[in-house]
Amino acid sequence: MKLTGKNITLRPIQKKDLPIFVDWLKDKEVTRFIRSGEVTLKQEEEWFDSIQSDPDEVVFSICLGKKVIGNCAFHRHRPDGDFPDQTFIGLLIGDKHEWGKGHGTDALKTLLAHLQKIGEKEVYLCVSTKHIAARRVYEKCGFQILKKRKDPGCPNQCCEEYVMRTGWI
Ligand SMILES: CC(C)(COP(=O)(O)OP(=O)(O)OC[C@H]1O[C@@H](n2cnc3c(N)ncnc32)[C@H](O)[C@@H]1OP(=O)(O)O)[C@@H](O)C(=O)NCCC(=O)NCCS
Repeated sequence: MKLTGKNITLRPIQKKDLPIFVDWLKDKEVTRFIRSGEVTLKQEEEWFDSIQSDPDEVVFSICLGKKVIGNCAFHRHRPDGDFPDQTFIGLLIGDKHEWGKGHGTDALKTLLAHLQKIGEKEVYLCVSTKHIAARRVYEKCGFQILKKRKDPGCPNQCCEEYVMRTGWI
């Protein structure tokens, strides 16, 4: 399945994409505001294998022509203390040279159009309160802040995040 945006396309991730994902996650600037940190290729391959048979974990590579510049995903029925059993999305433009060119917004709008088409009613995400660029992308895509809370993924509970939601109903 291929989803076409303004300049980017989304296609299901492939095993051959994993080495570049691993490289992006080594870069502290890329991971500064996200929960994922460095992973080995083996760990990434295990994760890839584990989601292949899981219809609730859907991950796309974001492509600019033939080049993979990022990934985006939706996770259905995600366990979350405040908003249990909802669909959450994630977005990463791993190629830093492509930041600030509208690709994050393009990719997310494309993903949201797909989610609407397949019958999702609303979509959630979490974003660090300090992550201005991501928040701007999410606002451009119609997300609104629902709640500010301590980031449950932060080991010493010192970071805060917003939970945001967009919907069509
Ligand atoms: C956050 C991220 C997705 C943004 O992607 P992108 O392709 O650069 O985003 P876009 O170009 O579509 O839009 C960025 C917007 O933020 C704005 N922006 C960027 N830095 C900003 C800053 N410091 N202050 C204010 N606005 C800022 C840009 O001006 C642009 O808004 P505009 O179109 O109104 O001018 C990308 O940087 C990324 O993937 N980072 C690493 C992983 C990550 O943090 N993912 C998000 C997890 S919640």
